[in-house]
Amino acid sequence: MQVVRTKAEVRKAVRAARAQGKSVGLVPTMGALHAGHRSLVDTSVANCDFTIVSVFVNPTQFGPGEDLDAYPRTLEADAALCEAAGADLIFAPDPDEMYGAAAATTVHVSGVSEGLCGAFRPVHFDGVTTVVCKLLNIAAVDRAYFGEKDYQQLVVIRTMVADLDIATEIVGVATVREPDGLALSSRNKYLSDQQRAAAPSLRQALLAGAKAAADGASGCEAEQVVADVLAAEPLFRAQYISAVDPDTLEPREDDGLPMVIAAAAYMGETRLIDNIRVEG
Ligand code: PAJ
Repeated sequence: MQVVRTKAEVRKAVRAARAQGKSVGLVPTMGALHAGHRSLVDTSVANCDFTIVSVFVNPTQFGPGEDLDAYPRTLEADAALCEAAGADLIFAPDPDEMYGAAAATTVHVSGVSEGLCGAFRPVHFDGVTTVVCKLLNIAAVDRAYFGEKDYQQLVVIRTMVADLDIATEIVGVATVREPDGLALSSRNKYLSDQQRAAAPSLRQALLAGAKAAADGASGCEAEQVVADVLAAEPLFRAQYISAVDPDTLEPREDDGLPMVIAAAAYMGETRLIDNIRVEG
């Protein structure tokens, strides 16, 4: 497995793989890789002949006051995980290589990027779509893999790829969880022992909301169930709890299934997100 720093090296590696008739997969990440990322890499390795993992803490998707500087950077361990998983190439550019001095273009997806997390992180999805669009142009892969844990991100990227006729298939991968239900996240490292012990209540709240929805509750009623369960954990401060249409992310206030219930909540300074899909 090679670790490269430049776009030119990625393009060269992709050309060489294609010349051998190989299919190519990409797993975009910000590093600090854990078993959730590993599941994306495993899926790509299983389904593509050549797998690229990008590791880039993308400054443009962090707002002022967010955790850009504190974000964990662990390239050596990340490379070991990717190598063990059978990945072929890591692309770890620095910000200058990624953006150059005079980048003037932003990719903005309207609608699906505006509610949920987008309502509280105004620059976030523009940063995500711009960097993912660039990665898909740099690597021109057959498939790119994204986690359902960041459900809105997955829908926003699917929308961008459809609207801009990008010839990459976007594949969603199920959320990997700790045994107690907490979704794996690079930000879990920020939690104190006490916070970590309380963190699974976010998942428990969503499970309770999903059960209510499956039993016939409307979106609004399901949101209230989630809010009530979460409020019982004093260490959590809910930011939003929203039941939405799985495809359009429109609110499902008075409607029933199918729905995705998505939530963001703070534990101290740490913001955790999770979601659950309830089929009709
Ligand atoms: P990052 O948070 O590093 O996540 C990289 C990918 O791993 C995303 O697709 C995310 O949904 C997925 N992932 C994270 N935790 C997961 C879990 N517990 N189970 C399954 N998949 C999980 O998301 C980003 O980086 C960035 O926004 C990026 C797309 C790389 C653009 O900068």
